[in-house]
Amino acid sequence: MCGIVGYVGGGSAKEMILSGLKSLEYRGYDSAGIALIRKGKLLVRKESGKLKALEAKVGGPEFDGPIGIGHTRWATHGAPTRENAHPHQSGDGRIAIVHNGIIENFMELREELTRENEIRFVSETDSEVIAHLISLYYDGDLFDAVRSASRRMRGAYAVAALAESEPDRIIAIRKDAPLIAGVCAEGGLIASDIPALLKYTKDVYFIENNEIVVVTRGGVQIFDEEKTRMNRTRTHIDWDVTAAEKGGYEHFMRKEIFEQPAGIRETLRRRIDDSGHIALDDLEFTKEELDGLERIYIIACGTALHAGLIGKALIEKYARIPCEADLSSEFRYRDPIVNERTLCICISQSGETTDTLEGLREAKRKGAKILSIVNVVGSSVARASDHVFYTWAGPEIAVASTKAYTTQLTSLYLIAMYMGLLRGTTDEAACGRLLGELAEAPAMVEEVLKNEERFIGLAKEHYKKEKIFYVGRGLDVVTAQEASLKLKEITYINSFAIAAGELKHGTIALITKDVLFFALATQAALYEKMISNIEEMKARKAQVVAIAKAGAGRIGEVADDAFFIPECSDEIAPLVSIVPFHLISYHIAKLRGREIDQPRNLAKSVTVE
Ligand code: M6R
Repeated sequence: MCGIVGYVGGGSAKEMILSGLKSLEYRGYDSAGIALIRKGKLLVRKESGKLKALEAKVGGPEFDGPIGIGHTRWATHGAPTRENAHPHQSGDGRIAIVHNGIIENFMELREELTRENEIRFVSETDSEVIAHLISLYYDGDLFDAVRSASRRMRGAYAVAALAESEPDRIIAIRKDAPLIAGVCAEGGLIASDIPALLKYTKDVYFIENNEIVVVTRGGVQIFDEEKTRMNRTRTHIDWDVTAAEKGGYEHFMRKEIFEQPAGIRETLRRRIDDSGHIALDDLEFTKEELDGLERIYIIACGTALHAGLIGKALIEKYARIPCEADLSSEFRYRDPIVNERTLCICISQSGETTDTLEGLREAKRKGAKILSIVNVVGSSVARASDHVFYTWAGPEIAVASTKAYTTQLTSLYLIAMYMGLLRGTTDEAACGRLLGELAEAPAMVEEVLKNEERFIGLAKEHYKKEKIFYVGRGLDVVTAQEASLKLKEITYINSFAIAAGELKHGTIALITKDVLFFALATQAALYEKMISNIEEMKARKAQVVAIAKAGAGRIGEVADDAFFIPECSDEIAPLVSIVPFHLISYHIAKLRGREIDQPRNLAKSVTVE
């Protein structure tokens, strides 16, 4: 959840670190700090709160230098105080570290260091033990000290370390927490995430588990645990700097909502060839391989799982392979039936979500092949997979996922059709129809976006409500779940989603006049059933706003209000019908004065269990 940045070079380390940390603000944080070496002295400044507080402390030229590390912390072990903020220092103040992840055995190490080495801890964090351990092993060579210290640490970590007596290099190491390195004209850089480096370089090295990076003014060198130099190729990141900036929008979330047509278009463009065929040959599936599959598991978390639930329906329909969509955090612990005749599809925007990464590893251990749908090129999930399908949403910065979701859905339409065509379980005509509609989807989303004023009106009418529920049937249940997640994470309103047919089995007891229902009715075969469900809600005095397809008839008279998305097939509807909810949630959050891009307690990529 935390952000790490480091720089060694001819420029100002402070400037680079602050700019890097700023571009990582979306990760969520509640304190920040920098360690620099200036004229042979290790200097540390840290503050609780936002970067502005830190900036005020590091203003003058007396706090700058050619080498430094920085950190934004999202509190886990210990409150968001200055003491708990990173960098942490050794007792003599000559070693400083920043850490992303969790040291699981920190209590045991802390007790040992206190008992046997009389070390006095000044913070409540798990990370402080790293600084003391490195210092304990330090014998004039920071590389060796970091390597020795890491052997004592259990858990997940990306660590960057500075030693006062080695003012020309940063040593960094990772295990199960993201770490990248890059080179710019003036020096070497490291960071936990791509946006931090974009301003300086677009060619990055992805550091693998247990590798140690030496960052100097001359660049970066990567070593394995045995100190063998690794020869790595750099990965080019196709994002431009402005894509990771707000570009005049008040919030990243609104910008990203409006970027959805472009994201869908780009994801399609990369996968449809000139003759209009789906081009997924690089995934190298054969008909025999697909025919031999017993089942497909889709694993993911949060919004990505919702995409997976739609994907399950599409894969079963087009490819006729039994498919289950499961929460990564449950999948990995429930001993799922996985073997070499299983395909595991992992969906993750960041590609760094620990639960999904661990689920992936579990499936791999049991013999499954892995196909991942990932937005961040070269991320851990992508690197651990046999096949990767990249979504082309561009960087998603707001914690609430919007454009990643619609590009994940787009990818799943293509994958399901591709599998169906390869297996012969679907025909060109059916796929042609769906592909034709997919090509129209960006325009349909644009059509919905034009109605922002309408959604602002709805938000104004309902933003004070304390209970907002979402119902639907068929694919609409998933859209309801995703819409509800979006609302609760950025507005903090109590909300849930339920299949409309399930209401009468208990939940109906909650309906009062204070409840607002959003009722989705985009699935033709279930439309009349939804009308009955809306009548049930109205009979109990709830307010109901319906979302249906243009031309849907009397739903507008049954519900209190209705919004109509452009006419489309039932299958495409989830791609379009989620968009009104993005804007409604956004405007309710705005009216309630929420921190929209960084909601409380949340971080963009969840790299802890
Ligand atoms: O990076 P991932 O797609 O793996 O993230 C999964 C979830 O943490 C994420 O979708 C989360 O639910 C979003 N904040 C929802 O908007």
